[in-house]
Amino acid sequence: MCGIVGYIGRKEAKPIILNGLSRLEYRGYDSAGIATIESGKLTTIKSLGRVSDLEKVPGMESLKGTLGIGHTRWATHGKPSRENSHPHMDNSESFAVVHNGIIENYADLKDFLKDNGYTFLSQTDTEVIPNLIHFHYSVSTETGNKKFIKAVTDTCNMLKGSYALEILANDYPDNMIVVRKDSPLVIGKGQDEKYISSDIPAILSFTKDFYLLNDNEFAFMSRENIEFFDKNLRPISKTAQSITWNAGAAEKEGFEDFMLKEIHEQSKSIRETIGSRITENGSSSIPDIDVSKDYLKSVNKIFIIACGTAMHAGYVGKTIFESLCEIPVEVEAASEFRYRNPIINEKTLCLFISQSGETADTIAALKLAKSCGARTIAISNVIGSSISREADYTVYTHAGPEIAVASTKAYTAQIALLAIIAIHFAEILELNEEKVNELKKDILELPNQIDEVLKTKEQIKQFAQRVYKETDMFFIGRGVDYAVALEGSLKLKEISYIHSEAYPSGELKHGPIALIENNVTVISVLTNRMLVEKSVSNIQEVSTRGAKTFIVTNQELNHSFDTVINIPKTNVLISPILSVIPLQLLAYYISKEKGLDVDKPRNLAKSVTVE
Ligand code: M6R
Repeated sequence: MCGIVGYIGRKEAKPIILNGLSRLEYRGYDSAGIATIESGKLTTIKSLGRVSDLEKVPGMESLKGTLGIGHTRWATHGKPSRENSHPHMDNSESFAVVHNGIIENYADLKDFLKDNGYTFLSQTDTEVIPNLIHFHYSVSTETGNKKFIKAVTDTCNMLKGSYALEILANDYPDNMIVVRKDSPLVIGKGQDEKYISSDIPAILSFTKDFYLLNDNEFAFMSRENIEFFDKNLRPISKTAQSITWNAGAAEKEGFEDFMLKEIHEQSKSIRETIGSRITENGSSSIPDIDVSKDYLKSVNKIFIIACGTAMHAGYVGKTIFESLCEIPVEVEAASEFRYRNPIINEKTLCLFISQSGETADTIAALKLAKSCGARTIAISNVIGSSISREADYTVYTHAGPEIAVASTKAYTAQIALLAIIAIHFAEILELNEEKVNELKKDILELPNQIDEVLKTKEQIKQFAQRVYKETDMFFIGRGVDYAVALEGSLKLKEISYIHSEAYPSGELKHGPIALIENNVTVISVLTNRMLVEKSVSNIQEVSTRGAKTFIVTNQELNHSFDTVINIPKTNVLISPILSVIPLQLLAYYISKEKGLDVDKPRNLAKSVTVE
């Protein structure tokens, strides 16, 4: 995780870097630091805590350089502390480095450097990098820019693991080198200036033109020029791509928090994700996936692989694909899939879902599936993300930048896109025409229905005020409602730190009901007409044992329960897109009542780029 930002140009680097870092804080906020070069001298300033703490460190006011690098940290190796903060420098203070990723062989490299007289100030894996650069630089026979470049490539050729690096050198006060492998990094292009960042939204207010680096690609930059090359110093030609997101998309735009804004953006993000992919009367169109009827007929298993919320979207996807395409689907956590020798071959189709497109486990699972001969489809929200570059086909959710650590609009957009892909496959396979046509109509109604659901927020806020001091809650549902229960429970844990568990409603009596006592909160989702009776019985079972009940439903219930949130009726296959919203809001309002930082919950980071 961690976020990195850099600037090289004619403006003062510090405010640009601090602005970018504060936007990247969702990636980690244990410590922050900055390095700039001014009058040929490297200066670094670091601080424990957030970017706002860094801003107050004495000496910050005098940093005036026009090139610099910055870092916001999510601690992996070495506890959060000033000495473990980035930028790290080599022993002679000639090179400064910020790093996002993990150097797996850092212990061996540290031993190697110690044998060569180097000492270490931190417990981090990163500190080996500036020292290795110094080592290669000092023994190099190269001259000019090549001496710096070669020291960096030689260093990277010794590193195992993942890294996005920004490197400054005292001897090169007008240059910066950046490189990436398995960690994200983009370069924004301006007029005689470059902006570097772990993600696009952090620098979107400065430029809309971006170079996307692939693994093991380096960039050597001056204010005017940029040269790309590979680890063997072979030049690479690259053109900048223009991004259509507007800068406002990465701002709060009047909302108190990004999470609240993103919950409210869901009608827009669903509308944009649908785009022209489906219409009420025509056939679906997904030009990004080029598969034939013969191929789809040969597929005997679909895997949906993802982590966290994206995996929860996958559970809903399973029901949709099985219902429309009649192909068995398994959903798996990428972190499990990648280590268990799954049975995959050319008849297996693997779908990988990742909002960021940078989740390390999901990318590793994708590489594994490809190596076993499966076809792979990535669903991502970030154009040019790592996952999109690995998969055979990529289809994008158009949710816009999701900044809050707790995923909301990406989840609903992922379900909408899974439904659209399932429709597309069913049409190619000429299956379930009637169901498909009905589902298309229902998907097109979702944006307006989402606005209806948002009108329940006052009722939800009141319930949050009653329950925010609790320590345990339960979520129950059947079928896709159970999938939503899992997501509601995750949201609550993430941002309110309340322990919660999600169970299929019918499982309560097999054990968990022993935990239900007076005043325990049980949250139920009930959107399947066929299962109303059964689900209501389950809710009554907990209610008679004294539970407070909060029910999200689009069915008429013939019993009175504590709090009932009524949402519009829709096709059960896509009902999670509506039923999850009250659960997102409930988690949000509980977190606010507790006075917590909704957008940056403790211990979490937005993109989990480590295993
Ligand atoms: O970027 P990804 O979709 O691959 O992220 C996967 C999970 O890390 C993510 O969904 C996580 O569970 C969120 N914090 C949930 O709100």
